[in-house]
Amino acid sequence: MPLTDGSASNQRVALNLKGVTRRFGSFVAVDNLNMTIKTGERRAILGSNGAGKTTLFNLITGDFPLSEGSIEIEGVESSTLPTHKRIQAGLRRTYQHALLFDSLSVRDTLLLAVVGIHNKWPLFYPLKKNSKYHEKAEALAKVAGLSSKMDVLVGALSHGQKRQLEIGIALSGDPKIVLFDEPAAGLSPAERPVLTELLLSLPKKLSVILIEHDMDIALETSNIVSVMHNGKHLLEGEPEEVVHSDIVREIYVGKRQ
Ligand SMILES: Nc1ncnc2c1ncn2[C@@H]1O[C@H](COP(=O)(O)OP(=O)(O)OP(=O)(O)O)[C@@H](O)[C@H]1O
Ligand SMILES: [Mg+2]
Repeated sequence: MPLTDGSASNQRVALNLKGVTRRFGSFVAVDNLNMTIKTGERRAILGSNGAGKTTLFNLITGDFPLSEGSIEIEGVESSTLPTHKRIQAGLRRTYQHALLFDSLSVRDTLLLAVVGIHNKWPLFYPLKKNSKYHEKAEALAKVAGLSSKMDVLVGALSHGQKRQLEIGIALSGDPKIVLFDEPAAGLSPAERPVLTELLLSLPKKLSVILIEHDMDIALETSNIVSVMHNGKHLLEGEPEEVVHSDIVREIYVGKRQ
């Protein structure tokens, strides 16, 4: 299971990470990480708490600056680009902890996402009824499995439905790469298959990185799995091979330091 060296092969590359490093003082949260995500790839990232997974997402999106290394998005050197430019390049993410407004309806939440992504000055132009934005919001609700909840307030949704809504928001504006940070966290056993189906139904051309502690979801929805530990990218490979590897067993039963 050799690690990718950050170089492109014949398939198109969506995201290329070379020597990506993030320090907080003397602590190295992400340590010289190389990873190449090909177009349409479904990559799951496993790793114990504090492994550096969310920090890696924050580096890819530009929420945190790199300490060292480089990030290419869709072939464009993006290491110092501000977050909004990376979003324009087709990058989206969801957050480990839900960031939604409980007092908005599902429709208004999706409308905000759609208008925000398509319109440079969203707050300056009142929305016309049944605009193209409404159509796009309806389409996102359909993908997220929330068509019947359009007029429900977000605060009245179940936890699983909120996570579906976050995925719907992340899909606004036809993204190229989406980063999902533990979308299954806190879901009930009954809600997990719904999320799995949603992840499996995403457009084939979309490149996805999924941080996930739920091995079943990671196995079912990815075609390549990476393992992070102490900020390092320890290994990558076929889902079954990686999930049943000694390294993963050691990490999850706590023997590896
Ligand atoms: N802003 C910050 N300042 C200082 N240390 C930080 C900061 N953000 C993250 N860290 C540290 O970096 C390490 C990696 O954190 P990160 O959140 O990336 O882990 P994770 O793999 O996402 O873990 P989890 O599975 O619990 O979400 C942790 O030790 C964390 O305390
Ligand atoms: Mg995290």
